[in-house]
Amino acid sequence: METLTRNKRSGSAVGASAEPPAKKDLAQRIFDIMVRAPGNKPGYRPVHAKGLVCQGTFTPSREAAGLSKAAHFQVPGPVTVRFSDGAPDPSIPDNSPDASPRGMAIRFHLPGGGITDIVAISHHGFIVGTGEEFLALQEAIAATDPSKPHPWPIEAFLGTHPRALKFVQEIRVIPESFATEAFFSNDSFVFVSKNGARQAGRYQIVPVAGRRDLSDAEAKTKPADFLVQDLKTRLATGPIQFRLLAQLPNAGDATNDPSLVWPDDRKAIEVGTISITSVVADSAGTERNMVYDPTHLTDGIELCDDPLPALRAKVYSLSASYRQQGQQAPASKAEASKRSNEPMKRLTRTETGDLKEGTWEPASDTGSNLTDRPDLRAEIEVRAYHHWRADGGRHGNALNHWLQAEREIMNYTRTNEA
Ligand code: HEM
Repeated sequence: METLTRNKRSGSAVGASAEPPAKKDLAQRIFDIMVRAPGNKPGYRPVHAKGLVCQGTFTPSREAAGLSKAAHFQVPGPVTVRFSDGAPDPSIPDNSPDASPRGMAIRFHLPGGGITDIVAISHHGFIVGTGEEFLALQEAIAATDPSKPHPWPIEAFLGTHPRALKFVQEIRVIPESFATEAFFSNDSFVFVSKNGARQAGRYQIVPVAGRRDLSDAEAKTKPADFLVQDLKTRLATGPIQFRLLAQLPNAGDATNDPSLVWPDDRKAIEVGTISITSVVADSAGTERNMVYDPTHLTDGIELCDDPLPALRAKVYSLSASYRQQGQQAPASKAEASKRSNEPMKRLTRTETGDLKEGTWEPASDTGSNLTDRPDLRAEIEVRAYHHWRADGGRHGNALNHWLQAEREIMNYTRTNEA
C-alpha cells in the first residue's frame, strides 16, 4: 500500500486516452491512478515495487487432501516466492513506516507443468472491500495536498471508512524479518474435494519462527535493505519455514468482502509447510517477468463471490504490460530516434502465466471500430507509452504518440485476426 499523503502527482505516465475517465473500465481507471504514484519507476510494480524472489518447496499436510483435490495439496513440489515492501518506490528503506504492508506471493509449480498462485499481505483484513472503494481511496490520496488546510480528502475518506483507518494505523510496524511476519490472502476462495464437497476459506501464512516486530527505536538503527540482507543471512544457515493454513468461515461470515476479518476462533485447517531454501540466481530479472495473480487457480480451488480477485487480475495484467515496456528515458536525441525505430515488443503469456516477448510488425493502413475493444485500448495505451518514453518522456506530444500507437495496433490486429 502506498504512502497516504501525496503532494503533487507527476503527469500522465501512460499515453493520453481520448476516452473520458468515467467511461473507462474500472481496472483501467484504478491502474491509471496507481501508476502515477510518486516514487514509482518505469520497469517496477506500482505497488510492492521492492522485492526479493526466493525458491523452496511446499509439503502438504495429511489434512490438505481432504480439503481440496488440487495437485499441490496431494504431493510436495517446488515454489517460487516473492517477498516485498508494499510501497510504490523500489528504493524505499525497509525500515520506513511507509514501506508496509509486506507482501508474500507464492507460486506453486504443479506436477505435470501447471502453476497456481497465492498473493498475500501482512495485514489481516484488506484496506477496502470493493474495487469502487479502492478507486475512491486512490482518488482521495491523489487529491490530497498537505499544503492545503484540513480536512484533506484522504482524511475525509478514512473518517468514513473505519476499517481503512484501522489498516493504515496498524501497518506502520516494522517486522524483525520477513521470516517473522505473517501473511493473509484476505480474499476468499472455494476448495473442492475429490468427492465434490465445497468449502470456502482464506489463506493464512504463519512464520514457524514466530511473529516478531521491531520497536521504533530498534527500527531506526537498521540499514535500508535490512530485510533483504536478513533473508540472505538466515538462508545461509538453513531454510525459512511458514505454515500454510486455510481459515474456514462460520455460517454468516462474509466471503465477498476481504476487509471484513473473520474472528480468530474460526476453525483453521493446516494445509502444509512452505520451506524457503535460497534466493533465485537473478532476482531482479525474475521479478520483472513474473506475474503473480490471485486468479491463477487450479482444479480443486475456485473463485467465490468475492469480486476483488477478478478485478485484481485485470489490474495486475495492465501493470505487468506496463512494467515490461518500462525503460529509462533516452540519454540523447540520437538514442531517442534509435528507440522509436526499434520494433515494439508484443507481450504474450506463456503456459505458466508469465510474459514473453514477441515482435510487433506494423502493417500499412488504419481506421476501424476495433478501438472500441477494451483489450485493444489497453494495448494501445501501453504502446503509446512506449513512444512517449522513446521520445524522451516529454509532455505535449501525447496525441501523436497515441495516434501512432493506434495505427500500429489496429494494423497488427487486422492482419493477425483476418
Ligand atoms: C482492488 C484491489 C487491489 C488492487 C487494485 C491491487 C493492485 C496491485 C497491483 C497493480 C500490483 C502489481 C502487480 C504486478 O505488476 O505484478 C499488486 C501487487 C501486489 N498485490 Fe495487490 N491489489 C489489490 C488488492 C490486493 C490484496 C487484497 C492483496 C492481498 C491481501 C494484494 C497483495 C499484493 C501483493 C503481495 C503484490 C505483490 C505481488 C508480487 O510480488 O508480484 N493486493 N497489487
